[in-house]
Amino acid sequence: MENKTKVWAHRGASGEAPENTLEAFELALKQGADGLELDVHISKDGHLIVMHDEQVDRTTNGTGQIRRMTLKELKALNAGTKEQPMEIPTLDEIYAWAQHNTMEINVEIKSDAVAYENIESKCLELAARYGVENRIWYSSFNHYTLDVVKHLNPKARTGILYGQQLYKPWEYAKTVGAKAIHPYYASITGEDYMKACQKAGINVHPWTVNREEDLEKMIALGVEAVITNYPMRAIQIRDAQMR
Ligand code: G3P
Ligand code: MG
Repeated sequence: MENKTKVWAHRGASGEAPENTLEAFELALKQGADGLELDVHISKDGHLIVMHDEQVDRTTNGTGQIRRMTLKELKALNAGTKEQPMEIPTLDEIYAWAQHNTMEINVEIKSDAVAYENIESKCLELAARYGVENRIWYSSFNHYTLDVVKHLNPKARTGILYGQQLYKPWEYAKTVGAKAIHPYYASITGEDYMKACQKAGINVHPWTVNREEDLEKMIALGVEAVITNYPMRAIQIRDAQMR
């Protein structure tokens, strides 16, 4: 059915599988998610690496900054569990995997803490190489990055990512050519807010909506996508509301 809220799995189905691993993305696909959100950095030798933090310490058995490690060093780490080890994926590998499905992909460019050289053009080139451009939404807390993306490819879809309340984000988004806002879900104040976004032609993709009551509320408000660690839960709530 058209106009239904899409469910995007945040770092994959990360409530049930190790975040930003192929296992988490596969699980989201299996559960029927419409898309996924992932985070991207650049390794020492120039590869686009899928991981949330700037350093590998929290989510792997290794230690160090992604930007100071080679792909080979990163690939030697375990981003899964002891029982089920998983490699840190590259964006290249995710796009190769995406050839076999129709998932939308929200690429969050992690250029807010580290100034990765040419990360915007690298992401765009890779998407073009795999022919997945039309399935991608770029987001970033660094809105200058989104401006760069739009200048490099005016057709690229972007969404401003933010955690605090912004004044009229539906207007501000347009200053960097964004087609969407990616607000922390609690900053969406209600129907007037949604109406203003609709009138401005701006999509609303809140994160990270995990609790049932919050999913119910966001879906009832008619956001275009919810970004959640629990895609199955979100799908059930969305489908129940559509009945
Ligand atoms: O893109 C939504 C969300 O992922 C933003 O915050 O820190 O989880 O990457 P973070
Ligand atoms: Mg993210």
